[in-house]
Amino acid sequence: MNFEEQKISDFKRWETPFYFYNISLLRETLQLYVSYINKYNYHAHYALKANANERILEEIRSVGLGADCVSGNEVALALKSGFDPKKIVFAGVGKSDKEIITALNGGIFSFNCESIPEIEVINNIASGLGATAQVSLRINPDIDAHTHKYISTGRAQDKFGISPWMFQEVWQLLLRCKNVRLIGLHFHIGSQITEIPVFKTLCERAFELQKWFIQQGATLPVLNLGGGLGVDYADPFNHAFADFDSYFSLINKHLKVLPNQEIHFEPGRALVAQCGFLISRVLYVKQGRGIKFAILDAGMNNLIRPALYGARHHIVNLLSKGRTMRYHVVGPVCESSDHFGKSFLLPQTQRGDLVAICTAGAYCEVMGMSYNQRDIAKAYYSDTL
Ligand code: LLP
Repeated sequence: MNFEEQKISDFKRWETPFYFYNISLLRETLQLYVSYINKYNYHAHYALKANANERILEEIRSVGLGADCVSGNEVALALKSGFDPKKIVFAGVGKSDKEIITALNGGIFSFNCESIPEIEVINNIASGLGATAQVSLRINPDIDAHTHKYISTGRAQDKFGISPWMFQEVWQLLLRCKNVRLIGLHFHIGSQITEIPVFKTLCERAFELQKWFIQQGATLPVLNLGGGLGVDYADPFNHAFADFDSYFSLINKHLKVLPNQEIHFEPGRALVAQCGFLISRVLYVKQGRGIKFAILDAGMNNLIRPALYGARHHIVNLLSKGRTMRYHVVGPVCESSDHFGKSFLLPQTQRGDLVAICTAGAYCEVMGMSYNQRDIAKAYYSDTL
């Protein structure tokens, strides 16, 4: 376990639960990611929804990535955090008028449009502001990403994107809309995708679907393949980085790029998941039927992924070196769904022990809430003194 003694003594002083970010690991991950982006001459917008912590955003902005946003507030935050408006994209099936105005006033690069009525509304609002909105069409390619059903976004039955049978109608609409300019197609088929060959299907399908627009006379200077690359929740210390190498070499091999076309990505989890931890104190150990419960002071309000998706984050007891036993690890919130998983093998655990719940840098702090009137947990960084 690679927390230094000094850090563990800091952990003992800080009020639990809290999020802890290893900034050097984040920087290493970003350097590695950027090296692939540069190697293949790709462009990337970080998906703010994965982690919108100010310090994390600053690290990501400073390596030159853009921002992928899914709300007006995310657009406003990206702008406030200094992301270049020309590197901000805005997706989402339900953009409100107010959010569209925020994005137009901010001069963002592209709206990733998800429906016919949305394009009409953007066109009307842009016309009222005397602006032209650049839009990419988010396409629903009907691909099963083989991930949890709640984070699968590219199947025909999912609410996201525009299906191919609507292309004719969309194209006619685009010809009529004078205040939107089509710049490309956008895809995002799901999250925590660990079967990398799924992205080969995406490359092939994206190329085929583009052809229809090209045949109508469109030029598509941008192809955005979204995010979705998964990380290793089971063995985070041996796999601190997502498999960027397999991912990008597969895409480079299978994607046919049109002349003068830029290829864009929207990574979220793969950049930030492994640098984050939720540090919590064991409040009680109580005997249950056939197994002990380790009851933590962190709950589903701090990390909702197990309750929502049945996710299992690796857990380490930072203080005990006792012989290992099995525990159900649970939180204090008044719901049986408030658990971190069943039958964890932990060294003998007692009241006062500190545990680290790993791979908590993505979709944890940002999904935090105050259910049961619980406090919102603070964040500390590896360089916090
Ligand atoms: N682009 C779009 C349009 C998205 O909707 C998402 C994530 C991403 C990019 C980034 O995907 P990533 O690279 O992080 O997989 N709360 C869930 C994940 C929800 C993902 C939503 N969309 C979880 O905790 O697993």
